[in-house]
Amino acid sequence: MKGVLEVRQTIQRPVTDMPENKIDLIAYKRLFLRVADHYSKGTFVIDERNKAIVYSLFLYFLKQPGSLDIRKGLWLAGPVGTGKSTLMYIFSRFMQTLQRGFRVYVCSRITTEYAMHGDLSRYLDNAGWSSLGPVDMCFDEFGREPIPAKYFGNELNVMQHIFHIRYSYWQQYGLRTYVTTNLYPNDVERKYGDYIRDRRGEMFNLIELNGESRR
Ligand SMILES: Nc1ncnc2c1ncn2[C@@H]1O[C@H](COP(=O)(O)OP(=O)(O)OP(=O)(O)O)[C@@H](O)[C@H]1O
Ligand SMILES: [Mg+2]
Repeated sequence: MKGVLEVRQTIQRPVTDMPENKIDLIAYKRLFLRVADHYSKGTFVIDERNKAIVYSLFLYFLKQPGSLDIRKGLWLAGPVGTGKSTLMYIFSRFMQTLQRGFRVYVCSRITTEYAMHGDLSRYLDNAGWSSLGPVDMCFDEFGREPIPAKYFGNELNVMQHIFHIRYSYWQQYGLRTYVTTNLYPNDVERKYGDYIRDRRGEMFNLIELNGESRR
């Protein structure tokens, strides 16, 4: 059985931003399955419930034409345990092997960090992580973080603030934001106001994972 690195080496041409760039999908599929297997220690399954979503995400991240709009980000919504975070972590690893990884941040950790240091620059312009400036990012468990977060006397709806800025990055530079959440659209409006609710469809591919929990 080949490892992730060996399978990676069989891919000759790097993935580019150009959707028309035809790539050897079979080699990438092999690599993806290897990464998924490695990351989940062999537990990740592709079945009738997630088959279509996994394949559309696979094409999306490789910037190949498919059912998702590659200019937009991803909004993965659904009940607990349906595999949203797992997918984002696996695709993050998969893209890392192609040198195009993105980080996944858990929203409640971001608010805790804000309450301790009052600084969100890492999530906005990537300060402290890289000199590249703002990059694609994933925010996991959106809606589970405490609102507002408090830094000394300053109360802030942290994720609302981050979205505000990410929306402008998306408009200006096409930067993508990925989200996993249990929230329904009405909850989004209640917690974050109509600003985010109204921009959701514009900025994100809306994807639903349903069914029983996989836990
Ligand atoms: N495709 C899969 N095959 C096998 N196990 C899976 C798969 N996807 C997720 N799991 C397992 O199911 C459990 C729940 O997955 P995960 O945490 O990704 O769900 P979630 O949708 O993010 O849940 P929540 O809404 O509570 O955050 C985990 O233990 C994970 O390992
Ligand atoms: Mg999750």
